[in-house]
Amino acid sequence: MYFIFVILIFKKQFNMQRFKYPFHSKLHEVPTSIFAVMSAVANEYKAINLSQGFPNFNSDPKLIALVNKAMLNGHNQYAPMPGIFSLRDAIAKKMDNLYNVSYNPETEITITAGATQAIFTALAATIKKDDEVIIFKPAYDCYEPTIELFGGKTIAVQLDPEVFTVNWEEVKALITDKTKMIIINTPHNPSGNVLSREDMLQLEALLQDTNILLLSDEVYEHIIFDGIQHQTAALFPGLAERAFITASFGKIFHNTGWKTGYCIAPAEMMKEFRKVHQFNVFSVNHPIQVALAEYIKTPENYLGLSLFYQRKRDLFLSYMKTSRFEFEPSKGTYFQLMSFKNITDESDYNFAVRLIKEKKVASIPISVFNEPNYDTKVLRFCFAKTDESLKKAAEILCAI
Ligand SMILES: Cc1ncc(COP(=O)(O)O)c(C=O)c1O
Repeated sequence: MYFIFVILIFKKQFNMQRFKYPFHSKLHEVPTSIFAVMSAVANEYKAINLSQGFPNFNSDPKLIALVNKAMLNGHNQYAPMPGIFSLRDAIAKKMDNLYNVSYNPETEITITAGATQAIFTALAATIKKDDEVIIFKPAYDCYEPTIELFGGKTIAVQLDPEVFTVNWEEVKALITDKTKMIIINTPHNPSGNVLSREDMLQLEALLQDTNILLLSDEVYEHIIFDGIQHQTAALFPGLAERAFITASFGKIFHNTGWKTGYCIAPAEMMKEFRKVHQFNVFSVNHPIQVALAEYIKTPENYLGLSLFYQRKRDLFLSYMKTSRFEFEPSKGTYFQLMSFKNITDESDYNFAVRLIKEKKVASIPISVFNEPNYDTKVLRFCFAKTDESLKKAAEILCAI
C-alpha cells in the first residue's frame, strides 16, 4: 500500500515536473493560416473552393512526363546545395531575355523549396533583434511572423482600401536608423494591384544613400493583365543592388504542391542567403529541378500565362456582372477582390464562413491581411479554377 502511495506521489511529481518548464511560443500571436482554415471548412462543407491560391486543374502533362523521365534516369539523390546548374542557368537566361539584366547563375541564383522558403531564408539571413522591416498591408501572411521569429519588428503601412496604391511620402516618414528592409510584392496578393515604373523609381530614390535591403516578392511575375509590363526590382539598378527577388515555379506552372521556386540576389547577399539555405533545406527536389530546367527553356511555357489567366478573370467577371458584389478587375495575380458592402454588414470573416456553410462557396476575408480588425467588407476569390467551377460559383454568388 505504502509502495503504491509512493508511486502515485512520484507520478504526481513527475507530471508537475513536465509543467515546470512551460513551452514559451516564439510566435504566440500567430494563428493557423487563414488558407488552411478556410480550405478545411470548404472541404467539410464540400464547397467550391475559391479561397486558397492554387489551380484546380493539372500541370502540363509534358512537364509531368519530364519529372517522370528525370526519376527514371536516376536523378533521385540530393541535388547540389544551390540547385542544379542547368536550372539556374536557364533562370539567368530568362532574366536576360525578358529584362536585359545579367545575373551570374554560379553566385547569384539559388533554387528553393517554393517562394515561402526563399522569403524565410532571406529574412533569416538578414534580420536581427530590433531591426525594423516595412511591409504593406494587406500583406501575404508569411512576412510578419518570419520577421518576428528573428526578433525583428514589422512596421506596417496600410494601403488605401480602394486602390491599394503606395503613398511613398508615408513610407519615407517611417524610415528610421533601425530600418533594415522593405518588402514589396508585385503583382500584389491579395489586391491584384501592380507597382508601376513610377512606383519603383520612387522607391529607388527613397533607398538611395541608405543601407536598407529590399525583398521583392514577384511570384506572380507572369500573371499580369491588359498589357501591363511587370516591373521587376532587377530593372532598377538602385534596387537590384540591394534586392532579394523571390519567385515561385508552383505559381507559374500550376503545381503549387511541388514547392519549387528561387531567389535572385547580388553575390554578396546570396552568399549570406546560402549560409542559411544549406542548413534550412540544404537542397531542393532533384527530379523536379531537372524537369523544370528543360521545360523553362521554352518561353511559351510561361509567357502565355497572362493571357490564360486574363481570359479566366474576364470569364469570372462576366458571370458576376449581375451580382450585388462590387469589383474592379484585378490587374495581376489570380485573385479578384469583391466588396460585399451592398449585401450585408457582417464582418468579412463571418460572411466568408457563412458563404461556405450556407452557399458552398469558399473565399478569403481580406481583413486577415490587413492591420488588426481593419475590415473593409471585401472578400478575395481565386480564379485559378476550371471554367466550370467559376461558372458554378458565380451562379451561386449572383443569387445572393
Ligand atoms: C505573394 C506570395 N508570396 C509567396 C507565396 C508562396 O509561394 P510558394 O507556394 O512558391 O511558396 C505566395 C503563395 O500564395 C504568395 O501569394
